[in-house]
Amino acid sequence: MAHSFDVIVVGGGVIGSTIAWELAKTGRNVLLLERNHIGAEASSAAAGMLGAQLEVNQPGAFSQLCLESRARYPAFVDELYEETGIDPQLTHNGIVQLAYSEDEVEALQAKMRWQVESGARAIWLSGAEAAAEEPGISECLGALLLPDDSNVNAPLLMQALARAVKRRAVVEEGAEVFAIQHCASGGYEVSTQGGRAFAPVVVAANGAWASRLLGSLGMSVEVQPVKGQLLSIRPRRARALVRTLFSRHAYLVPKRDGTIVVGATEDRAAGFNRDVTIDAIAALLAHVQRIVPVLRDAGFEQSWVGLRPGSSDGLPWIGEVPDHPGLYAAVGHFRNGMLLAPVTGAMLVHAVEHVPWPSHWEVFRARRRTSERGESAHEHLGQR
Ligand code: FAD
Ligand code: GLY
Repeated sequence: MAHSFDVIVVGGGVIGSTIAWELAKTGRNVLLLERNHIGAEASSAAAGMLGAQLEVNQPGAFSQLCLESRARYPAFVDELYEETGIDPQLTHNGIVQLAYSEDEVEALQAKMRWQVESGARAIWLSGAEAAAEEPGISECLGALLLPDDSNVNAPLLMQALARAVKRRAVVEEGAEVFAIQHCASGGYEVSTQGGRAFAPVVVAANGAWASRLLGSLGMSVEVQPVKGQLLSIRPRRARALVRTLFSRHAYLVPKRDGTIVVGATEDRAAGFNRDVTIDAIAALLAHVQRIVPVLRDAGFEQSWVGLRPGSSDGLPWIGEVPDHPGLYAAVGHFRNGMLLAPVTGAMLVHAVEHVPWPSHWEVFRARRRTSERGESAHEHLGQR
């Protein structure tokens, strides 16, 4: 006889852990199954930018979703800190998007206009003003300052979430789900090497591996790994950089421990390959030297890889799976899973409790195919 739960969540990244935590807080008996350990994959690898204004290109549902999730962050991390004693280090340092060509100036000024019209703060800086804002940077033509975009420490956020989930839910690590089967009497049986568990509600939140698992149920969910390489450096001087800097080729995210996280490559052809390569790291370091020459003497700390869960249109795929009552998906968060975790948790609680969604969430609702959504992410996602 399989063990019974109210909810089984598959995948212990930021998305699955947040969902498990939020559903457990509603009083449900939740089982989280993670094949490795919580935070083993993309979620601890992330740079941790909460780029609600950075990572979008036009007004609309995606922009609203990102802003909403950013607004939820202070309460989210406060509650995690209170429950676990681990501080995810939410830092309100703003993001500066740098322009080195007239085309970039034009695109960033257009972005500033629609963001200001939508009520967000976005400030144009001349080259001289950008240099006054961040004295270490090289000459640029201008920059867009997004003072309300922020960042968290992704590994610490995952440690806090792991502890929080373990306090409220049953967590099995080292438990790879290889099958989800619909039961004739309703609900689902979920199988791992260690045994079987049953629940009327199952949530697939297994990141870049979602297509395999949901595919075994005959569903075509178009999520593929998008490899990203990052590195971290330690400047010799304190506060060598205060704002997060973002250029077309690289970004630099200053962390509270004094390091700067530098990212990131975006490689769709690499599949599940996790090699750190000399060419990628050398290119990122060259960009660092070009963008912030004073960092030339910074110490090299480490490099690593993460696999972004990229849906075919770059937008997340959230909610009850068509024709599979009780089976939910929360996948395809691509470049913004850290940012979107709080709102995704809320969307799943609404969906499981059959509370109607606000209209701007609807475009992200799980459909048979992402192409049925009629909205293309390429129009929404930030230019790089
Ligand atoms: P994951 O964190 O990958 O978690 C999925 C989990 O499912 C894994 O732990 C895996 O082991 C588990 N799993 C898989 N298959 C099974 C199975 N069959 N059974 C049990 N468990 C299974 N986002 C931001 O918002 N801001 C950023 O600055 C940012 N920077 C990034 C930089 C890089 C280089 C990368 C790679 C990503 C970045 N992201 C960023 C994106 C963000 O990391 C992802 O969108 C987010 O982590 C996705 O979370 P997830 O929980 O869906 O996936
Ligand atoms: N959001 C930053 C990245 O995915 O690299």
